[in-house]
Amino acid sequence: MEGNQDPTNQVESARKAFEQEFGRFARFTTASNDLRLTLTDALEEERLLRELRTRHLGKKSALAAAKKLIGRVEPNQRASFGQLVQKTESEIIQAIDNVEQRLGSLIESLRTERDSIDVTLPGQRLRLGHRHPITLLRERIEDIFVALGYAIEDDREVETDFYNFDALNIPLNHPARAPQDTFYTTDGFALRSQTSTVQIHAMQRRGAPVRMIAPGRVFRRDTPDPTHNPMFFQVEGLCVDEGITMAHLKGTVAEFLRRMFGPATVTRFRPSYFPFTEPSAEFDFSCFNCGGKGCRICKYSGWIELGGSGMVHPNVLRAVNVDPERFSGFAFGLGIDRMCALMYGLDDIRLLFENDLRFLSQFA
Ligand code: FA5
Repeated sequence: MEGNQDPTNQVESARKAFEQEFGRFARFTTASNDLRLTLTDALEEERLLRELRTRHLGKKSALAAAKKLIGRVEPNQRASFGQLVQKTESEIIQAIDNVEQRLGSLIESLRTERDSIDVTLPGQRLRLGHRHPITLLRERIEDIFVALGYAIEDDREVETDFYNFDALNIPLNHPARAPQDTFYTTDGFALRSQTSTVQIHAMQRRGAPVRMIAPGRVFRRDTPDPTHNPMFFQVEGLCVDEGITMAHLKGTVAEFLRRMFGPATVTRFRPSYFPFTEPSAEFDFSCFNCGGKGCRICKYSGWIELGGSGMVHPNVLRAVNVDPERFSGFAFGLGIDRMCALMYGLDDIRLLFENDLRFLSQFA
């Protein structure tokens, strides 16, 4: 505020300054509704108006400074000066309030317009998802084993060496422990390379007797190709009780495969080696496609290899405090992905994880 200016002139110049700036809002004072403003524009105008109000009516405004002069003008001019200040102030307030109101209702109708739904537009049909082929197969396997009296176990995918190797009787120098074969986290945990780890958790939790299957994801540093992925699914089976023999293993696996692929399915066992079973065997079943005559699916051998199995090694039972003198058991494990590929005639298991809807929607 210029100190020497006549107080009346000060009020007048405050009014002029206001009127000049208020000019941009003139269009909001006319009756026309055709303002062609977007919601963003209108919100910006509202913000500018708020600033204008502060500048011309706020504590630091020229008008506020003029108000302070009321007490200082000559007593005979005080009343008329006071009235001038008040009149000017209320005119400014009135002008701003009018525009504010107009802008407010404009913003409200622009918002309503933005949020409104055109009920005459055709709707978007919701596309229903469906289970992944691996899940479909896992559920079939689970159903069969639940019917045979098995519990379903689910366990962690990140393991300590104890569960992934030590308790499974895998010697310290075994190649599976090397980082070329197994994924490790930076703090030394292993991503489980087989669901056999769940044998250990299950026996620690439940003791013996126990009958369970454990479907789940496993990880190996295998280079992807049509029959290998670095991440795939296995199902583990474990049965420990008094008097369990190899005959129970063979009967259980054969019954599972008959329920899975039909009553005529034949199972065969071939001697093999796994550190956590003794004796160990791999099992094959007669090709579900040709019934054993030989075809493209079984590579003309008549047999399809499915997984590993054997009698639980006494060292594994000892590692979980189950007495191997009293209890014995069998275990088996099979890969779901390759089984899935065989059943659906896929020539590459990598298709299962490419998330291509053109492929996946065929399993709806
Ligand atoms: C095992 O993993 C044993 N734990 C099985 C077992 C359990 C034996 C209990 C004895 C007692 P193997 O390494 O053979 O065994 O793997 C089992 C199955 O996993 C294979 O038959 C195959 O179907 C599947 N598999 C292995 N590597 C891959 C891979 N990179 N991609 C997809 N499937 C695989």
